Amino acid sequence: MFKSLDSKQLKKSLLAVGLGAALAVTGTVAQAGKLGIGATATQEEIAGWDIDIRSDGMGLPEGKGTVEAGEGQYEALCATCHGLFGEGEGRWPVLAGGQDTLTEERPTKTVGSYWPYASTLYDYIRRAMPFTAPRSLSDQQVYDITAYVLYLNEVIDEDFVLTKDNLAKIEMPNQENFFVDPRPDVKNARCMKNCADPKKMQIAGTLRGITPVGHFVEGADAPAASHDAQMEQERHKEKVRKATLKGETVAAHGAAAGGSLSEAAMAGKSTYEGACKVCHGSGLTGSPKVGDMDAWSGRIKQGMPVMVQHAIKGFTGDTGVMPPKGGRVDLSDKQVEQAVAYMVESSK
Ligand code: HEC
Ligand code: HEC
Repeated sequence: MFKSLDSKQLKKSLLAVGLGAALAVTGTVAQAGKLGIGATATQEEIAGWDIDIRSDGMGLPEGKGTVEAGEGQYEALCATCHGLFGEGEGRWPVLAGGQDTLTEERPTKTVGSYWPYASTLYDYIRRAMPFTAPRSLSDQQVYDITAYVLYLNEVIDEDFVLTKDNLAKIEMPNQENFFVDPRPDVKNARCMKNCADPKKMQIAGTLRGITPVGHFVEGADAPAASHDAQMEQERHKEKVRKATLKGETVAAHGAAAGGSLSEAAMAGKSTYEGACKVCHGSGLTGSPKVGDMDAWSGRIKQGMPVMVQHAIKGFTGDTGVMPPKGGRVDLSDKQVEQAVAYMVESSK
């Protein structure tokens, strides 16, 4: 429908148009003149922003794509994060599989198991992927790769030719579970009486590696950071129980997990799992994999202070780029230091 801009053109037009475009797009073209700032956006500039695709396919560009052409491109541009079969590397999103998991406590929501419309997939890939270079793909590439992701989900066969006209007609497996809520609007009035005192509220349950832990109240019922500690304690109890049966003794808790971790390393484990494992668990983007002694021995020789500085400030070495604090600037220096201790001690 629209002739889309390539990313260089788009960047230029964004710089040139700025606020003017925002006002113009919302339909108040006259305001730009009235306020005396910006310039009226041209049709071409608006087209650069107006890229949404509706569930009925409106907005799709001319073109078509094939599974065969998509395969190589997917493998080159997407598989490092999403896995060769869409299974997801490390903690990057899973794109395929997960059928029949939607009623489970932790459902695997993928394009095939969850998404209601194939058009969303085209829109999403064109708009946002690859993660590090959004809007770098041509319409042709997006058609091919969309076809391939649908194929990975067994929604289409390998010889299917995806076109502007048939894309929106594809029936997604979970489509019928999306419907307009038929219940009447009860027009509930907000109750603001007998409210709890916010100061006395505490968050008690957490999800490991997902719930942010910065704001937890010290000493609250089950603060997040202690989730891992609790798990360790359970494991330790189990070990003692087994050892007692065999008549052995076990070192005090703390030295128990993973053999002989220092206190700092034990404390760093949850930070590692939440913030560093995404790369260091698998060696993604050239990072030294935890547990791989060869990858770590040279680095360990530099001494802890250097490694900790590299982890806090970020650094570029021979194998890749370590972002400052792994991209998690909300972590304290101490948390990063403890995570490094955990990583190093687990790799000797
Ligand atoms: C550097 C890692 C990386 C690469 C490479 C990458 N993605 Fe993603 N992808 C992500 C992340 C992170 C998200 C989640 C983004 C969010 O939720 O804001 C995501 C989300 C998605 C989703 C939505 C998943 C869902 O169920 O919500 C799709 C579809 C997708 N990517 C497709 C692709 C395709 C196709 C490519 C290749 C052209 C690609 N990605 C390349 C990291 C990546
Ligand atoms: C986006 C991926 C990524 C994340 C997330 C990440 N790292 Fe790294 N890290 C790297 C890469 C890549 C290197 C290797 C850089 C090189 O030597 O070229 C590296 C190297 C390191 C090193 C070795 C430094 C040296 O002097 O050799 C340490 C220590 C480290 N990371 C700690 C951490 C900690 C702690 C976290 C979590 C808070 C973390 N990293 C999160 C990618 C990551």
